[in-house]
Formats: sequence, C-alpha cells, structure tokens
Amino acid sequence: MKDTLSKIRETAIASCAAAKTVDEVENLRVQVLGRKGELTQILRTLGTMTPEERSEVGKLSNEIKTELEAALDARKADLEREVIGKKLSAEWIDVTLSGAQTTEPFERGHLHPISQFQYEIEDIFTSMGFDVLDGPEAETEHYNFEVLNIPKHHPARDMQDTFWTEDGNLLRTHTSAIQVRGMEKIKPPFRVIGPGRVFRYEATDASHENTFYQVEGMMVDKNISVANLIYFMKTLLREIFKREVKIRLRPGFFPFVEPGFELDINCLICGGEGCPVCKQSGWVELLPCGLVHPNVLRSGGINPDEYSGFAFGLGLNRLVMMRYGITDIRHFLSGDIRFLKQF
Ligand code: PHE
Repeated sequence: MKDTLSKIRETAIASCAAAKTVDEVENLRVQVLGRKGELTQILRTLGTMTPEERSEVGKLSNEIKTELEAALDARKADLEREVIGKKLSAEWIDVTLSGAQTTEPFERGHLHPISQFQYEIEDIFTSMGFDVLDGPEAETEHYNFEVLNIPKHHPARDMQDTFWTEDGNLLRTHTSAIQVRGMEKIKPPFRVIGPGRVFRYEATDASHENTFYQVEGMMVDKNISVANLIYFMKTLLREIFKREVKIRLRPGFFPFVEPGFELDINCLICGGEGCPVCKQSGWVELLPCGLVHPNVLRSGGINPDEYSGFAFGLGLNRLVMMRYGITDIRHFLSGDIRFLKQF
C-alpha cells in the first residue's frame, strides 16, 4: 500500500510540474484528490485495514494530500501569472512614443521659425520694461480702423483690404488694433508690445502673403519724442542682428501717427553696396513707425497735451527672411516639412 501511495505521489507531482495550462492542473486535482480520485479511493478502504495499517496509511495519505494541494496551487498561480505576463507584453503600449511611426527615424518637433523669433523679440522688449499684450485676430472695424484715425471712406483703408465677416467684423489687418485696446486697460506711462497674426486680402507672391505676423510696439509717457523711438529701434536691431545696424528714417504716411516714418536699415546682405535684395539701393525698408497721433491717444482716453508716445509695427516674416536669407514668404505657411526642418 505504501508503494502505491508513493507511486501516486510521484506521478502526481511530476504531472503537476509538467502541466501547461490551468485546466490541466485542475484536471489533475480531480484525478487524484477528487471524489473518485486515486487518493480518495485509497482513503475509502481505510476501514478494511488493521489499526496500525490504518494509522500509517492515513497519515501518509494526508501528508501526500497536503503536499499535492500545495503543489497544485503553486503551479496554478505560476500559470496564471504567465498568462497575464504574456497578455501584458503583447498589449503593452508605450504612450511616450510619437504618433504614427513612419519609416523615418523618430524626431522631436520644434517651434516654427516665426514663433522662435517672436519669443526672442518678446525677450528683448521685456528686458527693456515692456509688457506683452494680446488681442483678437477677428476684430471690429472700430479697433482696426476707426480709433486709429481711419474713418470709413479714408483712402488708407484701400491699402489694407481684408476678409470681412457677414456681420461687419473683420480679420485684423495689423496689430495696431491692439493699441487702443491696450490704452483702455492700462494707464500711462506704459510700454507695451503686441505680437500676433494679421491678414490682408492680397494677391500672393514671393513677398506678399494673405496671413503674416507683426509685432506692434507702443510707448506712452511724458515728453516722448522721435529720439526715444530711434533709441529703442536701434537697440532692438542691435539685439536681433548682434551688431550695430545703420538706420535711416523717411517720411511715411499712416493716419495713426504724426509724424510717420518708414525706418530703413542698411542692407545686411550686401552691407550697403547694392544687391538684388535691396534693389541696388543699399537700404531695406524694415518697419513703419511714428509718434502716436493725438486723436488715437484721445480714443484711448489719454490727454495728448499731457502725454505723447511712439508706435511701430514690426513685420516678423520680413525679419526672419532677412536673418536666414529666405527668398519667398510663402514658405512660412506652406507646411513643407523640408523647409521647417531647417530651423
Ligand atoms: N500698422 C501699420 C501697418 O501694418 C504699421 C505701423 C504701426 C505704422 C505702428 C506706424 C505705427 O502697416
């Protein structure tokens, strides 16, 4: 009897170790320990044995039963863990991977060159005590034109045709729309810039786009003159181009400044000798500017007898083009990845 028992034990332990699925383990449990199981059968015959035999076989059977149950439970747990592990590694997702993987190696994106430049300019101006303002891209006629001294039938509106909404609003043609919005919120003295996207209804070519970027600037204080304007513009250009840049002012007309100027810089491509970029003149038109018109100050609730200010409108696209020698403005919004990757 003892031999039979140890045979049962041996085969059961071996089959348990060899079981490949949870089902196999459970079948084995039934086969040995179940109601009609091998070990159970033997325990049923205990009654026919002598007392010594009975206690010996009983003891041994119980030991085997305990040992086998432990082995079966352990094997079952192992197999269950294996199943979960397999499932986990098959269904595991690395959420840090980029989207659709292409055949190209994984590359991190970066800011658009216009944004990079915008942030750079914001840094330069904030270091000079300017605040950064924001304004809506969809504007009212009021802020885009009227308060800037451009009434309805003023010919200056022709220069800045834009996209109109059916209810009479428009996509702002310039960041100057931020000027009066700003003055309504903050009291002088102040220094602000307002970067942003602007729109024009424009036939596009290498130097014209219907969507581009400007940085508006405005400083209002007591006794602000053209000298202050020149100082800040020269400082800005020195910071941007990392060298001393020669400038000149020509008269320019914008209804919201008086006097108004076009600020030119010495051509950085040819150094002033004359080249196709500066059209052989040695100068490149860079930014319009001037002293804020008294009417505009009044629209912003500021007394022009007490305060004066300067304003300028920096074309971001133009500057980025100058810095990198980009010859077509349409690259910026083309979405061409080969263009963008260069920055
Ligand atoms: N807003 C003008 C434009 O877009 C530029 C400008 C700004 C001129 C500020 C003078 C002062 O053409």
